[in-house]
Amino acid sequence: MTGRAGIRAVEPEGAVGSGADNRPVVVFEYSQTGQLTEVADALVAPLVAAGRPVRRVRYAPVEPYPFPWPVARFFGVFPAATDESARVALAADPAELYTAPDELVILAYQVWYLAPSVPVRSLLAAHPELFAGREVVTLVACRNMWYSAAAEVRRTLAGLGARTVGTVAAIDTRPQGITLVTTLRWLLLGSRDGFLGRAGVGADELRRVGAAGERLAAAAGPDETALALADAAPVVPVLAAADLVAGQVFRRAGAALRPARGVARAAGLLGFALTLGVAIVTGLPALVAARLLLGKRFDRVVRARLAGVTAATSAGAPR
Ligand SMILES: Cc1cc2nc3c(=O)[nH]c(=O)nc-3n(C[C@H](O)[C@H](O)[C@H](O)COP(=O)(O)O)c2cc1C
Repeated sequence: MTGRAGIRAVEPEGAVGSGADNRPVVVFEYSQTGQLTEVADALVAPLVAAGRPVRRVRYAPVEPYPFPWPVARFFGVFPAATDESARVALAADPAELYTAPDELVILAYQVWYLAPSVPVRSLLAAHPELFAGREVVTLVACRNMWYSAAAEVRRTLAGLGARTVGTVAAIDTRPQGITLVTTLRWLLLGSRDGFLGRAGVGADELRRVGAAGERLAAAAGPDETALALADAAPVVPVLAAADLVAGQVFRRAGAALRPARGVARAAGLLGFALTLGVAIVTGLPALVAARLLLGKRFDRVVRARLAGVTAATSAGAPR
């Protein structure tokens, strides 16, 4: 870890409340636009109100990613984003990079190309000690496809010997066609508000995440954490199915593109962008049709594939 830029820690906030679960909380977070910070604020506000000490630890890449994203950078990050071993150097205050054994850890992250963003992967890789032997709540905020990313984060945490006790997910709940346009407008042009409305996680989701935070604050003890967060990551079956299929395809496409350089890489990325457009326009309606035909059977298959992603897990193998 180098330097102190990009990290800010909020000191524990006062006396412990009346609930039996008085454990302090630490949140690890990086947000490019502030959206993830806003979602984390909503989750921890009830804990702070209940007197739980909450430490916010913000880290960031030493070389910041651009915002808004030039189109070439946005698609150019695809091969790295789909590479589980991709890392960037992080700026963080070493004095803040610890977890006490009794701290409940909240790992907040965003999704890049159906995978956990490169910065969060880098944190997990560079600082396994923050998570080993800890109880972890994962908090994901993205457009609406978080399932493959959540599966990877859960797997990684288990590999580090962490116990994932809950998943909270916040998405843009508006129709897929609209969020596709508004998210691209936001990320590529920098305007969150405008044509077709505000992009990103809206007030409805912030309220829902806040309600999860209230249940967490009211939990009578550590054993009730999972219960409190039981429905904090609602599954949308059609989106989850698309995500799980595309997540595999993205990882293979990214691996195929990684060795390419120069014109070959640019052509490959252009091909990927065009194929992605076609896949969204044709693939999602096909999945909607399958959902209509198969009904609850479709949902059951998707939920079975997601088992262990949203539910609490037992302790993973220590490193
Ligand atoms: C390069 C890139 C790829 C993204 N891919 C996805 C994606 O696959 N699924 C999704 O739901 N959101 C995706 N998003 C949206 C992010 O998850 C996130 O909502 C947005 O970047 C704001 O996050 P922030 O808190 O870091 O500002 C992507 C964003 C970026 C920059």
